[in-house]
Parts: sequence; structure tokens; C-alpha cells
Amino acid sequence: MASFLLKKRRIGILTSGGDCPGLNATIRGVVKACYQLMGEENIEIVGISDGFYGLIRNHCTLMKPTDFYGILTRGGTILGSRRTPYKKMQIVENDNIDKVKQMKETYREWNLDCLLTLGGNGTHKTANLLSEEGLNIIGLPKTIDNDIWGTSVTFGFHTAVDIGTDVIDRIHTTAHSHSRIMVVEIMGNKAGWLTLYTGIAGGADIILIPEIPFNMDCVIKAIQNRADSGKHFSILAVAEGALDITEAGMKKKERLQKRTEAGEVTITSRVAKQVQEATGYETRAVVPGHMLRGGSPSAYDRVLSTKFGARAATLIQKDKFGYTVALSGDEITENHLSDVAMKTKFVAPEGKEVVTARNIGISFGDK
Ligand code: F6P
Repeated sequence: MASFLLKKRRIGILTSGGDCPGLNATIRGVVKACYQLMGEENIEIVGISDGFYGLIRNHCTLMKPTDFYGILTRGGTILGSRRTPYKKMQIVENDNIDKVKQMKETYREWNLDCLLTLGGNGTHKTANLLSEEGLNIIGLPKTIDNDIWGTSVTFGFHTAVDIGTDVIDRIHTTAHSHSRIMVVEIMGNKAGWLTLYTGIAGGADIILIPEIPFNMDCVIKAIQNRADSGKHFSILAVAEGALDITEAGMKKKERLQKRTEAGEVTITSRVAKQVQEATGYETRAVVPGHMLRGGSPSAYDRVLSTKFGARAATLIQKDKFGYTVALSGDEITENHLSDVAMKTKFVAPEGKEVVTARNIGISFGDK
């Protein structure tokens, strides 16, 4: 038997950023695969509470195999999470401490052989920084936004698509019955993947995403065209971060200031108001919000999380660090953390999903 199989390993795990379905399934995947590959007696798992906050504060626990029982289907994260970037974390006694130094100290104090960081873009940025600081890091790509560079899918995304699709399906029947326009806000501040997929799957008539700034006249025109053809209801799937063509030329701060001055709480509420004024149709805004990322992971995400987790275990076995796990086509693979950090995977305005949507008559409010 190769000697690396007998090596004892202490593995730290943290979950960081907004929670999403599949975090626990991924943790379970890593732990089970580590036990299988390297022997349960050779593996110790240290759970770090509340993401990088717990790493700074040394909130760590040596976990038992039984801690991972029954978590495949569980939503959220058994470890807890914080979405504040580590630099902005308030450390009550002393806010001027060197947080990176503190994280490294916790890692050393617990004698970790490696640290697994489950999270989105912000998490990958910090993971890369810690990797450059000499820690052995492996990332796992989580987010309902699906905007991590280098992986075709992140875990959590498809569950959120399923939930969003169910929301739109239910909205559809009431929109039809009451001849209303329904504006459904879907999470996604920077990237429109979730709105795009949810919109296509739910049969939305208009999809507004950050990557394709809209023109309100075009949105109204699309609704009127439907009315002219006898369809007296419409569904708009609007990304939380959608913006119009004027706003697209502004800096974020200016855009938010203008919206605040105009008394607009969200883009969805503005769109709903303007649609009602222009078309005369009763228009309602619906915000499923955090329901999109709550609850149990879908079957797809359970499988993906398990595959990602198992891949991370093989990286640990090979002492291959500084990577984040990814899906490329059908293959589970990995990318250098340094290639992923600081990047965002946006929807391509001419990409295949957008083209497909346009081909079936979905409007993006831009033409
Ligand atoms: O990144 C996941 C996400 O759900 C985004 O889609 C959304 O913009 C953001 O988190 C909401 O964050 P919070 O839960 O902090 O309101």
C-alpha cells in the first residue's frame, strides 16, 4: 500500500457567504470520500463556525463522524456562515487586529493539513489570498448565482432554478386568470443566470438581466404586442440587479443614489409601476427572495455536491492544494484558485441560452 494512504490528516472545513442548498451535501461528500479513500481512522475533521469569522476567532470544533449523518438533504449549512468580507468583519475586542495573521494562526494552532472553503466569489478571493499566504486550500464552488468563473455549474444553482420555476408556474395561473402583468424578482445582483434559467423554464415573456440593459419602451412594446395578439397577461422575470440603458452608463453608487431619490425600493417595483402606468393592466410585483435558496437541495444538486466533495477528497489524498473544484462539460475537474479569484462568470448577451430565448420570442427588453 502506498505510504500516502496511511498518512493521518486533519482537515478544516468552513462555509462562507450566503447559504445555499447543497452545502451540507458537499460537506458530507468530502468527509465520506475521505473516510473511504484514506481510512476513517486517518482523518480528523475540524468544523469552523461561521466562515472566515470563525477562522479569525478560532471558533473550531473537532467533529465526529456522526456529525455528518443525515445531512445530505438538509438545507443551509451545519457550520453556519457569514457573508461579510473578512476585512469588514467586526471583531468586538479589537478591530485593528491583523485578520489574515489571525486566520493563519488558527490554522496552525489546529494543526490543519488543509482547509476546505465552500463559497462563492468572495470566498474564492479570500481562499486564494490564504493560499498565497502558504495555507493548503481547496475551494468548492457554491452559489445560486452560478457566477463562479471556470465551472459550468455551481452547486445550489439548479435547486434555486427549480424553486424559481415553481414560483413562476404558480404566478402564471393567477396572471392568466386575472389578466394581470406579474413582475417576478429573482435573486442575482451581478449575474443574471438564475433569472435567465428560471425565466426560460417558467415560460416568462420578458426576462431582464444585468448583462442586457433594458429600455422601458421595449418592455412596454413587448407587453402590448402580446395584448394585440389576444394575450392579456404577461410574466416578467426580473433579476434583482437588472438595470436600464441609462443606468448602465452610471457607477453603482450614482445608480443607487438616483433610485433612492426617486423613492424606488427595487428595480422590480419600478418596472411594475411603469408597466401599469403605460399599459393600464393591473401589475403586481412578486419577490420570492430568500425562498430561492432555502430548503433541501434538488436531486441534481445532491449528485453534483457529492461529485464535487468526492473530487476534493482525491485532491486531499494527493496533497494537491491551491485549487477549486469545477464542472467542465460532464467532467469534474479543478482550476487554480488564482485563476478563479477576482473573476465573475457573466451571461454572454449573445450566448446560447439568450439566443434560444430570443428564438422563441422572449424579449430581453432591449429591442
Ligand atoms: O449570492 C447569493 C445571493 O442570494 C444573491 O443572489 C443575492 O443578491 C444575495 O445573495 C443576497 O444576500 P443576502 O442574503 O445577504 O441578502
